[in-house]
Order: sequence, then structure tokens, then C-alpha cells
Amino acid sequence: MENFTVTPWEVNGSVDYDKLIKQFGTTRIDEKLRERMKKTCGDLHPMLKRDFVFSHRDLGAVLDDYEKGSGFFLYTGRGPSKSMHIGHIVPLLFTKWLQDKFKVNLYIEITDDEKFLYRKEYEWKDVQATAQQNILDIIAVGFDPERTFIFKDSEYVKNVYPLLMKTARKITASTVKAVFGFNDSTNIGLSFYPAYQVIPTFFEKKRCLIPAAIDQDPYWRVQRDVAEGLGYYKTAAIHTKFLPPLQGVSGKMSSSGGAETAILLTDDEKTVKNKINKYAFSGGQPTVEEHRRLGGNTDIDVPYQWLSILFEPDDLKLKKIQEDYRGGKLLTGEMKMLLIDKINTFLKEHHEKRKKAEKEIDKFMYTGSLAKTMWGKIHE
Ligand code: TYM
Repeated sequence: MENFTVTPWEVNGSVDYDKLIKQFGTTRIDEKLRERMKKTCGDLHPMLKRDFVFSHRDLGAVLDDYEKGSGFFLYTGRGPSKSMHIGHIVPLLFTKWLQDKFKVNLYIEITDDEKFLYRKEYEWKDVQATAQQNILDIIAVGFDPERTFIFKDSEYVKNVYPLLMKTARKITASTVKAVFGFNDSTNIGLSFYPAYQVIPTFFEKKRCLIPAAIDQDPYWRVQRDVAEGLGYYKTAAIHTKFLPPLQGVSGKMSSSGGAETAILLTDDEKTVKNKINKYAFSGGQPTVEEHRRLGGNTDIDVPYQWLSILFEPDDLKLKKIQEDYRGGKLLTGEMKMLLIDKINTFLKEHHEKRKKAEKEIDKFMYTGSLAKTMWGKIHE
């Protein structure tokens, strides 16, 4: 029995990513594949370089298809339960990098149905309001509006119903019980829902590549069981680790962990400062004197981990921060200040882009080139 669990809904305990790769049956991104990505893309995203993007399924086959000219497409998603936090933006930023590099179509599924079914405390109208807010945050990431289609499950369902039924007919109750831990008291909506998360991988007769944290991988296992029987490719996937919560480097930042565990994309400067200063777990020593003498531990220091995952892309600067902290030159409060400044700069820009996003919703959802084509299609 492992002392951690990872499901699409919950991450508990300290995740051993090597064990998880074995448990899920995925493949580690090794040096050779990293080099191949670098050669194809011209450079490597810091998350790839630093092993935060660490695992995959069939990424080599995606690169083969790209080189042969048959191409591929991207698909990712968001379940709109509450405000989005910094963790949710991590796979989206990486997805944007992939779209910029490969210039491919991207489908973003907003699973209002899933969250309504899973969260019994939410009313339909609450989920809809949250979805609308989340869509603004997603658009603010800066995807290509002509090559990106953002759709809400409840709205797009009429265009996908035949394909959804075809797929659902292939997935048995015992599969979803085994894969997702559903049981006899799981509502039937939730038992059916995995079919909907699978079908965007069939939106084109090309290989699909899904960037997401590894918690979503169980869906891709189901997809890979049924895809070829339905005449489509088994999907490829590229997995990130989890951005840890403020309280410590194990587990994942989540919306249900309480406001003090996460930085929300809507937080203002003061809130960010207070949360980091008050809650961010530090690898520093209890007193300044001891810290100067013994140095801090960057492996367990949440501010350092966040800088290395997302907020300090410059390798040399990051190395200096690490050395200074370990050597006792940089204090805990100073490390926190570095992170606070970085997050606030990032969020200031995000808030501006989010305001502009209001005018772009139509393009991404209805009128952009890809969106228009998609609304004109019935998927069978
Ligand atoms: P949701 O809304 O729970 O999560 C959205 C995306 O954020 C990732 N994620 C994280 N990544 C890094 N660190 C974290 N702490 C963290 N917490 C969440 C998730 O892996 C996901 O990529 N069922 C899905 C919605 C969905 C979807 C998809 C997601 C539908 N189709 C295709 C990815 C790809 C959900 O509820 O995601």
C-alpha cells in the first residue's frame, strides 16, 4: 500500500513520482526525449528542463507525426468548481508554450457537468457563474484565438451527442469502478461523465496530445482502451507534477484545501503578501543566527520550490538564490519577498489580460476560425 493517493479529485500524502509512473503505467521523460524536444522546439520550457514536466504517453509518436507532416492537436481542460489558483495555471502556461512552438489547434473543455455532479453543495447556476470567470482566466493565458476552441460541456453537447453515445457504449461500469473508484452509491451522472472527458481526443483524425497534471491520467487510460476500436488514435499525454500548497512540498495546491493553502488568480497584492508571509512553509532555520550558520533547506522550502517551478525562469538567478539560501546568506524573509514580488508582477499582468479577455470570449467560444468550424460540425 502506498502512503500517497492521486486521483482526478484528490491528492493526499507525499507523492513519490517514480512510484506513480509505475502505478499509472506512464513513461518518464528521459534525457533523450528532452533533447529531441529541444531540437524540435528550438529551446526547452523551464518546466521541461527542470523535470517539473516529467512523464508522458507516446510523446515520441507525436513528434514523429509532427516531423512526417501528419501533425497533431492539443487538448486540455478545467473543471469550474471555484476560483482558479496558481496551480491550475501551470499546465495552461505549458500548453500555451506548446501551441506557440507547434502552431496547432487546441481544444479546452470546461466541465460544468462534472463539477455539478461531483460537488453536491453547488447549484447549477453557481457552476455556470464560476465557469464564466474561469474562462476569462484561461483566455488571459494568451492562446491563439483562431486556433483555440473553448467549450462548455453543457453547451456543446448537442454537437457531440452521437460520438458521446458511441464512446459511452464502449465503457463499462466495471471499468469506471476500477479506474476511478466509483461504487454503487456514486451517482450515475458521474459514472457516465468520463465518456465526455474522453471524446475531445477524437475531435480530429490526428494524434491528440494532452498537457495536464498527472492526476488526470486515469481518463487517458480509459481513452486508450477504447480509441482504436472507435477508429481513432490512442491519445498521447504529457504530465506535470503538482504545484505544492503553501503549507508544504507534499500534496497539491487545491481549491478545496482552504484559502490559506493557495494563491488565487484573483488575489490582490496585499493578500499575496500576507498569505506568503503567514503560511508559506519555510526550509529556513528558526533564528537568524542559526540560519546564517547552518543555511536553509531548499528541498522543503515552498517559496524556493515555487520560484523553481514557475516564477524564476532564469537558471543563473535561480542557482544563486539556491546557493545563497543554503549558505545562510539569504534569509527566509528575503526568500519570501523574492517570491511575493514575482507573484505580484505575474498577477498584475494577468489581471490586465483578464480584463481584456472579456472582449475575446466570443472569438474563443463561437466566432474564431476553429470555434466556427466546430459549431458547424456534428461529431459522429
Ligand atoms: P481541474 O479543474 O481539477 O484542474 C485543471 C488543470 O489543473 C491541473 N492542476 C494542477 N496542476 C499543477 N499543480 C496543481 N496543484 C494542480 N491542481 C490542478 C489539473 O491536472 C488540470 O490539468 N476533469 C478536469 C477537467 C478536464 C481536463 C481535461 C483537464 C476536462 N478535460 C483535459 C486536463 C485535460 C478537472 O476537473 O480539472
